[in-house]
Amino acid sequence: MNKIGFILWIIATFLALPSFAQQYSQAPAMPADALTLQSPDHQLELKFAVVGGVPQYSLDRNGKPVVLPSRMGFTLEWRDDLAHAFVLKDKDYSTFDETWEPVWGEEAHIRNHYNELIVTIEQPVGSVQSMDHSTEKKATVMQIRFRLYDDGLGFRYEFPMENALVCFWFKEELTEFAMAGDHTAWWIPGDLDTQEYNYTESRLSENRNLWDASHKDGGWPWTAFSPTGVQTALQMKTDDGLYINIHEAATLDYPTMHLEFMDSLAVNPWDTMSIFSHQNPIASSQKPKAYTFRAWLSPDAAGYKGRMQAPCHTPWRTVMVCEKATDVLASRLILNLNEPCVLEDVSWIHPVKYMGVWWEMISDKNTWSYTNDYPSVRLGETDYTKAKPHGRHAANTENVRRYIDFAAANGFDALLVEGWNVGWEDWYGKQKEFVFDFLTPYPDFDLPGLNKYAHEKGIRLIMHHESSASTVNYERWMEKAYNLMNQYGYDAVKSGYVGTIIPFAEGHYSQPINNHYHYAIVEAAKHHIMVNAHEAVRPTGLCRTWPNMIGNESAMGTEFRGRIHPGHATILPFTRLQGGPMDYTPGIFEPDMSKNAPWSKELMKITICNQLGLYVTFYSPLQMAADFPEHYEPYMDAFQFIKDVAVDWDTSIYIMAEPGAYIVTARHPKISSLNKAAEGVGELPDGKKGVISNATRFVYAIPDTVETLHATSLQIPRDVWYVGGITDENARDVAVKLDFLKPGVKYEATIYADAPDACGLPDSNSLKYNPQAYTITKKTVTAKSVLKLHMAPCGGFAVSLRELK
Ligand code: NOJ
Ligand code: CA
Repeated sequence: MNKIGFILWIIATFLALPSFAQQYSQAPAMPADALTLQSPDHQLELKFAVVGGVPQYSLDRNGKPVVLPSRMGFTLEWRDDLAHAFVLKDKDYSTFDETWEPVWGEEAHIRNHYNELIVTIEQPVGSVQSMDHSTEKKATVMQIRFRLYDDGLGFRYEFPMENALVCFWFKEELTEFAMAGDHTAWWIPGDLDTQEYNYTESRLSENRNLWDASHKDGGWPWTAFSPTGVQTALQMKTDDGLYINIHEAATLDYPTMHLEFMDSLAVNPWDTMSIFSHQNPIASSQKPKAYTFRAWLSPDAAGYKGRMQAPCHTPWRTVMVCEKATDVLASRLILNLNEPCVLEDVSWIHPVKYMGVWWEMISDKNTWSYTNDYPSVRLGETDYTKAKPHGRHAANTENVRRYIDFAAANGFDALLVEGWNVGWEDWYGKQKEFVFDFLTPYPDFDLPGLNKYAHEKGIRLIMHHESSASTVNYERWMEKAYNLMNQYGYDAVKSGYVGTIIPFAEGHYSQPINNHYHYAIVEAAKHHIMVNAHEAVRPTGLCRTWPNMIGNESAMGTEFRGRIHPGHATILPFTRLQGGPMDYTPGIFEPDMSKNAPWSKELMKITICNQLGLYVTFYSPLQMAADFPEHYEPYMDAFQFIKDVAVDWDTSIYIMAEPGAYIVTARHPKISSLNKAAEGVGELPDGKKGVISNATRFVYAIPDTVETLHATSLQIPRDVWYVGGITDENARDVAVKLDFLKPGVKYEATIYADAPDACGLPDSNSLKYNPQAYTITKKTVTAKSVLKLHMAPCGGFAVSLRELK
């Protein structure tokens, strides 16, 4: 189109609009002839219709609205929007029911059972305009694929090849989620750079008033986009007690979805369509429904929110609906909406229980850096052999050996070492592109020698790659860095993305940066490397497809020490963990931070038993015991639970839960995974095979004195369960029925509980801060037993149960 043509086209388009800022604030009711889809148990019903050219959906449960009629679509760059002028062309119903086995997980078998409806809708030729005339000869085709499960809905937009749209750019995704009431919500503020926030519990209508305070209670760097923005997974509860959770699944080659709450002050994009829009015939004088969210995608540096190339599709948008809080924890909706595993050989992927040269730095006792001589470091130029060490470098050979000894003596699999590589003197907040090379150790870190030492003791070192958010730099070095890991027998990496993303002006969750995180996983798989990324995008179930993604942080974890609110850990399994496991880094036994750094006044809001409870209430195939050996040594009887607990499960039972209050979970270990670990999976390059992990010892009741594995030891496992509980600032007494145990069998229960005078809340009115007070009792129990357990403020409990022979 030439310039004059373009101007005429704009004028014509503009004149065609009856009113530029026409109010389209509210989706109208679903028409009587809307298409319907029911969940396999018939309790949920989805409706879809094209109303006056606009696609919209609703979701009911047993006749009551969960999602009121909500509009769907996009605004596009250089083209009429995908938000009007649609006609329904086709519909296709099907049903699916299969059971699959995750490589690791909360259970050995997962049922994926849904009913599906695919609708094909079109903007006919001539009904929309584009800057590119060649595309106007074809209709614009969009499909929406709905999958309805007993526990919720997933839907995504699909763009087939035969289409007027080939390469196209989204300006906004307009998907709405209109809630039917002023629900209670557990939310963190929408942010383009950090997910490290405390949660706010409030009514939806209080979101705007509480948003500022909530936003101040988080990590760095922060980039807000709306005074009513929130992140997913967003957990809500209706006044009728229904649990509704909005999230997304399988976010690949697409920006991350936030939600913007459309209260009466928010600007609704449906009211301010691009000037290329035709008339939207939904004229409504009504204000937006009071409790509507709309999708708000993380833009790239140029402001786009999805650069698409047909055939393609968006991630799934999910609305989980559960009658009980425990059903939310048991839901596999997000995993089920992801594609099956693409890796043919997964034999090298294994669960990991690890320790780390880490808390020393987090707690300010020591540092990642080596010297004070270089306020400015240039990779390849700065000569560390000439530097004077400042004496606080934690990743020194002697200290690392000390941790290896402790981890090996206590049956751990691995040890993370941070601060091993040069560059930490000026890494933080400097926006340096060439920040780390991931290859060059500090002079006092003997990389080959330490790996050999570790492997001889049955421990693997976990590599650390802090990219400092310079994704371009990391990609340049990645292949060499992974090769170095292969050379020395590292099979897991913790990566990190602290700071402002380089390339500059990208956010942490835009499409190009999400593609970077995925690239790191795919490349790592080629090297048989498992990945645990911190500060990367919140997971959306991709670990089903790429099970070498064994962990993520992507939320406020233990590193926030005393800043973490009581109850935080009771919310995360409802929200952040829906997308995949979290490297929460539990296991702090010394919650008084002044013991690590005398100037610190921080007291963590935990008890020792609360920390033990996390190993069961939080699922992760990668679990850390985060504190120092010397902090465990005085409490080795309590540390025994961390040693004994497994990290991969064939059955999980969510006994009781309420977000922001408490969780009690029981889990049964996956014996095949313990055996695999005991058989020395992946074979340590220069070390022993068949080192027995302590969890394996516990299940087979192998005495501590037996050093290496004999095949005969692994014949008959005892039946074993672990139970964990955590609470918020309120003390609680719970009665846990052990009816999940094998009937007629006696078990030895070892009960780790907060002592009556324990208290993890520093400013409790009635109790003195006393986080390290616990009792350990042993009892013989059966499936008929009920355990009465006390949880102190910010406390918890842990129980191991082993069949008696
Ligand atoms: C932030 C991570 O969450 C933390 O675990 C790590 O130690 C630091 N970045 C340094 O990489
Ligand atoms: Ca972090």
